[in-house]
Amino acid sequence: MDKMKIGIILGGLSSEKDISLESGRNIFSKIDRKKYEPISIFMDSRAALWEIPLKLLMRNSTRDIEDDLREEAKPLLYEDLKGRIDLAFLALHGKYGEDGCMQGLLELLDIPYTGSGVLASALGMDKDFCRRFLAASGIDVPKTVSVPRQDWESPRQADTLERIEARIGFPCVIKPSREGCSTAVTKIVSRASVGRALENAFAWDSTALVEEFLTGVEVTCGVLEGEKPFPLVPSETIPTDADSILSLEDKFLYGKGENKTPARLPEEVLKKIQDTALATFLALNLRCYARIDMFVLADGRVVVLEPNTLPGMTPSTVLFHQAAALDMTQSALIDLIIAAAVKAHRTKRGPL
Ligand SMILES: Nc1ncnc2c1ncn2[C@@H]1O[C@H](COP(=O)(O)OP(=O)(O)O)[C@@H](O)[C@H]1O
Ligand SMILES: [Mg+2]
Repeated sequence: MDKMKIGIILGGLSSEKDISLESGRNIFSKIDRKKYEPISIFMDSRAALWEIPLKLLMRNSTRDIEDDLREEAKPLLYEDLKGRIDLAFLALHGKYGEDGCMQGLLELLDIPYTGSGVLASALGMDKDFCRRFLAASGIDVPKTVSVPRQDWESPRQADTLERIEARIGFPCVIKPSREGCSTAVTKIVSRASVGRALENAFAWDSTALVEEFLTGVEVTCGVLEGEKPFPLVPSETIPTDADSILSLEDKFLYGKGENKTPARLPEEVLKKIQDTALATFLALNLRCYARIDMFVLADGRVVVLEPNTLPGMTPSTVLFHQAAALDMTQSALIDLIIAAAVKAHRTKRGPL
């Protein structure tokens, strides 16, 4: 039988494109070559696709790759993609890759893809709407005030400040609604810093969130879709500086930050984390795989910070630790994701 051609799509337009490169080349190197033929496909910063050879895939950054595309790579037109690959493994993260845009395009091209469908991806990316939806499903989320840019730029700025002070207070966290990798996520301790933090967030999105500063244990739990969805073993995320915001480096750079799997919490708390992760997966109709980030507060509340619908797949990423706790190799996890995607797209009616 012919091997299934898996187009691993990486790079893209978002602030997370370099993490995507790490995820993509890890998938490329771990994927089971007895079953699959991997093809690395780079999305450049104008969203054009290129089939790239190994020597480009091994470059240090998406910028380095982009510099040499014309000499070293072959353009791949979207209309030719279906003839070249059987399934798209989305190693993209963030805007346009993880938020339903790429998913919609692949639906129109009739190409199956890994991860969640159009609506679930869009909801997963938009923290504002996601929280409204999760809260309505009975899932605990941080106390949040959402601030549309036009409200902040209106003459009624004082009303917004009052709303923040009354509903959230200080310290609080301000962030763009749709971003990733801690981009423009700021902890502030007084009213005087609200403006700067909001403007920082508005550089990335037209809605900013102001939310309660959560103190407790930050945890994260993967969910996989086997016969039916099931949670993995929760991990605890340990920031380098307990009082600050986890940076990109904390999360993805070798030797920075720390994770412990399983999280060092009592059995019943681990169970509650798993139940919450699974409930979030089901409420949002996530598919294939996802990773849900949460906080366990001192009073026992398990609060969902955000779902990651295309979580990092870098070699050291926590999702692989959680799979390893079930004796699942990186290659087996990749295999499971592809199998789930094949099944989801075979049985869907309309877009996933
Ligand atoms: N309300 C909060 N309280 C405490 N820490 C937070 C809060 N919001 C974010 N953080 C910290 O910042 C990190 C990034 O925030 P998050 O909302 O997950 O944004 P992103 O989508 O950029 O990952 C989190 O992993 C957490 O460590
Ligand atoms: Mg996050």
